[in-house]
Amino acid sequence: MSTRPVALIILAAGQGTRMNSDLPKVLHPLGGVPMIEHSLASGLSLEPARVVVITGHGADQVEAALADHPVICIRQNEQLGTGHAVAQARAALADFAGDAVVLFGDTPFVSEDSLTKLIAARADHDVVVLGFEADTPARYGRLVTKGTALHKIVEATDATPDELAITLCNSGLMAADAAQLFDLLEQVDNANAAGEYYLTDVPALAHKAGLKAGYVTCTEAETLGINSRAELARAEGIFQATRRAEMLDLGVTMHAPETVYFAHDTYIGRDAVIEPYVVFGPNVTVESGAHIRAFSHLEGAHVSQGAVVGPYARLRPGAEIDNGARIGNFVEVKSAQIQEGAKVNHLSYIGDATIGEGANIGAGTITCNYDGVFKHHTEVGARAFIGSNTMLVAPVTIGADALTASGSVITENVPEGALAVARGRQENKAGLATRLRARLLALKEKTKKG
Ligand code: UD1
Ligand code: CA
Repeated sequence: MSTRPVALIILAAGQGTRMNSDLPKVLHPLGGVPMIEHSLASGLSLEPARVVVITGHGADQVEAALADHPVICIRQNEQLGTGHAVAQARAALADFAGDAVVLFGDTPFVSEDSLTKLIAARADHDVVVLGFEADTPARYGRLVTKGTALHKIVEATDATPDELAITLCNSGLMAADAAQLFDLLEQVDNANAAGEYYLTDVPALAHKAGLKAGYVTCTEAETLGINSRAELARAEGIFQATRRAEMLDLGVTMHAPETVYFAHDTYIGRDAVIEPYVVFGPNVTVESGAHIRAFSHLEGAHVSQGAVVGPYARLRPGAEIDNGARIGNFVEVKSAQIQEGAKVNHLSYIGDATIGEGANIGAGTITCNYDGVFKHHTEVGARAFIGSNTMLVAPVTIGADALTASGSVITENVPEGALAVARGRQENKAGLATRLRARLLALKEKTKKG
């Protein structure tokens, strides 16, 4: 296999008219992340030396979304076709010696294996195209081949009836020596039905120049391109089905996997149990043996071994649930660590907090973490007992083994082992209820008569 350096060129400048959206197509989420991240992730498996993303429609938004990735964004100011788009990368790769691999930002399912095959085939070919046998070739470009040689690609709109009968289609992905690809692209014109500069003209030009063009194939499922909301929904369905199957293979228990939704990067350990109707947003790790009960929503959270979360729990970014901790129904946790064995069982909001080992947070407890401008921290010591309906007005620290009385509004720190009572003192007025009720009933009688 070739060990030449690889540069990725990811095309993401198209308008995506059929999405009917203000959001650029490649930023529509699939598996909880912008769809372009899927192509990028498979491309990164080739360990590219450089990644160039061609942006155009919604370029500001696309570039902002990719800001954390090691990619160079180049603008294609006018969308004159896929060939024209790839040619925009020329300057960014002027000093690059190696293979260029062209990917599409709206074709998320291309596997690492297929990309590896594509690059491997460069050993015997100057230009390699990733093709597939289509059930319904419809609008796809057709591969005109002879044996293993690829003579040309014809776009459906330019094809003869004979060519239209070909079922071997173009996924759009291509690999070639970078410098050679840019030279071939110089010769591409726009004399075709769409008046566009087609990347797909490259194999025929290579053939004419005495170079070898060839192809490898992948499954049709991998080449699914997303052009409309309907295709996006279908892609999400395929993504989820694949992730569920992977999770089951990895030893995760799910009684109704078809009701569980995963993100691109969800990690779940062996023997974890995921009950029905659980939704995972991005960046969640559930360690082995943890138990996520029904109707819970998790994002940016880490759940350790033996912890139980839900039913009806919400873990937001920064939720750290340590070994054996317990998060019960209608509890929301954000930027907070719930340490080993601590319990937050009912109807609570715990935000910007550390809850110590073995602490017990009573029903209805709320960390009042936000003053409208700043967020403040709440610290609850080990084994502390927070009475039901306690308001913890942050910043505040509750010492280890301390106790707060139910209904307290805690605004000052509570020392270790102390009992804090911060509520109105109860007064009982003997017989007053009976007298009051008699008076009210008499009043009612009088109003009826009068
Ligand atoms: C392309 C192929 C077709 C193949 C199909 C597979 C060409 C000419 N045709 O057709 O053979 O079967 O993909 O899905 O390549 N883009 C730009 N700038 C442009 C034009 C396109 O960045 O000026 C980007 C789009 O955003 C998209 C990708 O290139 O990500 C493909 O473009 P699209 O117009 O969707 O090509 P298809 O007509 O689907
Ligand atoms: Ca397309």
